[in-house]
Amino acid sequence: MPLQNKKVNAAITAVGMYAPDKILDNKYFESIVETNNEWIISRTGIKERRMMENGATSDMAAFAVQDLMKNSRLKPEEIDVIIVATVTPDMFFPACACLVQDKIGAKNAWGFDLSAACSGFLFALETGSKLIESGAYKKVIVVGSDKMTAITDYTDRNNCILFGDLASAVLLEPTEDLNYGIKDSLLYVDGTGKDNLYMKGGGSLRPASHETVDNKWHYIYQDGKVVFKVAVKGMADVSYDIMKKNNLTSDDVAYLVPHQANMRIIDATAERMGITKEKVMINIDRYGNTTAATIPSCITEYYRNGKLKKGDNLILAAFGAGYTWGAIYLTWSID
Ligand code: UT7
Repeated sequence: MPLQNKKVNAAITAVGMYAPDKILDNKYFESIVETNNEWIISRTGIKERRMMENGATSDMAAFAVQDLMKNSRLKPEEIDVIIVATVTPDMFFPACACLVQDKIGAKNAWGFDLSAACSGFLFALETGSKLIESGAYKKVIVVGSDKMTAITDYTDRNNCILFGDLASAVLLEPTEDLNYGIKDSLLYVDGTGKDNLYMKGGGSLRPASHETVDNKWHYIYQDGKVVFKVAVKGMADVSYDIMKKNNLTSDDVAYLVPHQANMRIIDATAERMGITKEKVMINIDRYGNTTAATIPSCITEYYRNGKLKKGDNLILAAFGAGYTWGAIYLTWSID
């Protein structure tokens, strides 16, 4: 397809989400591991999370896109590209994007999965926005979907209380009005963090075997204390840097949309940006850490609750396994 000459921004023009019905509250965890409601709330901010009982990541992603389509004029055959950010694909291959394409009937789309853990939505949003800006594509679906309960060890109290299942999707379309849409990004990876947050087994390095199963290498491993420190610094610094780069003061920012891993990391990021609590999107209390779904689900819920208005400047920020981290600056374009 020919590249167009006229500069466009990519803008989010529709949103959707899917939250499974089953709720795991803190009381449930008190019954399975040595923990308590007060510890979980004070150390993480989480009260409950969701669990997908019948279905996988692609089902949740497809439900989120169907919800988006139900609430917009988008028809499945109009979709050009589907990008699924996930670390819990249904299987290594085919990609979740193919499964979602089939489930929603997007018969003219191509797509792929993107693996950047908790920064997955940001990396996918940047990728999708560049596809739009190139002029080659007009309708790009970006989904963050993770079934974290599938890789959680429910005997490990350090980690099992943290994660939940969720999916959320956005539609990117071009806008010629450059006052709106995705305006800037700062994204990073640093593979030296690989041993602090990862799933050790099942890949080509340590293929599934009795050893990998016996050692629980198919579950998330996280050194929480180590990751906490780098996450605070990474998310706070990158959020501050993107504001500075774009000459934004805290008054110019309507909302910080942070990855929801830990309320204390979110508070530290907001403090560094000089942003008050009311301007921070939060849903960690109801869903826990849902990896690639945290940021789009916050945006979807705040938009649907009437808290987002056209012209609002948002700073999206995340930190995750890899390490991966970054921030995106956008101006909301839906009335
Ligand atoms: O999303 C991708 C990036 N990931 C993150 O950003 C997560 C970063 N890390 C964290 O959010 C936090 O480190 C955790 C929430 C995972 C843990 O909080 P913490 O304040 O760092 O706790 P800790 O690991 O330092 O543990 C403090 C104490 C320990 O006991 P001792 O050794 O002091 O006696 C733990 O054994 O709390 C204990 N503990 C628990 N107690 C009750 C750990 N897990 C639990 C639990 N219930 N579930």
